[in-house]
Amino acid sequence: MKSTIDNTVEFVKEKLEGAEAGHDWFHIERVWKLSRKIAETEDCDPDVVELSALLHDIADPKFHNGDETIAPKISREFLEKQNVPDETIEKVLFVIENISFKNRSQAPENPPIELKIVQDADRIDAIGAIGIARTFNFGGFKNNPMYDPNVQPDLNMSKEQYKKSNGTTINHFYEKLLLLKDLMNTEHGKKMAQERHDYMLNFLDEFYKEWNVD
Ligand code: ADP
Ligand code: NI
Repeated sequence: MKSTIDNTVEFVKEKLEGAEAGHDWFHIERVWKLSRKIAETEDCDPDVVELSALLHDIADPKFHNGDETIAPKISREFLEKQNVPDETIEKVLFVIENISFKNRSQAPENPPIELKIVQDADRIDAIGAIGIARTFNFGGFKNNPMYDPNVQPDLNMSKEQYKKSNGTTINHFYEKLLLLKDLMNTEHGKKMAQERHDYMLNFLDEFYKEWNVD
């Protein structure tokens, strides 16, 4: 599987050339490494974990007019060309199709451990210092306001509203980032998430202090 992993790295790097900084190759690399770390503590198929981590944002619907079918299609074609066994391909596609935060209302009932691991890794990279940086980068990319004291967070957005949201970047903390800690699947993931969660709370405290000049 080593050479398949190497080929996947090359493939993903090439596909993500020029991607928004929060969803670029370096995000994938961090999620890949975090997934491997969590995988060490769980009984799982490491090939499925690594391939899923590498391919999970290959065609993020956010950047493809909301089309959720492109990533599984590209991934299947690539993995078939690499002669990856069908059973592994199906498992990888299942992870890619179910990893997203915005689809959590349709989450499978008994998720396989490989999905739990890669989802935790992706969520860990969404919080803490890196999470803060990615979120402000994405907000800037969309030209959203950083903060507006008159706009309240919306915790009851439908999937469609969430995707279209032009809310403030600070509100995204309440609408997603601060919720992730309690959605972690694995013990290792929970521990890492707690530290990063506390860091974000300190950041928000400091942000409001500096905002409210008196
Ligand atoms: P997923 O890809 O798991 O469905 P999201 O669509 O919520 O997750 O996006 C992943 C990352 O993109 C977030 O963690 C955040 O950094 C950034 N992001 C998404 N939506 C917003 C937003 N409205 N404002 C700021 N950042 C956002
Ligand atoms: Ni991701």
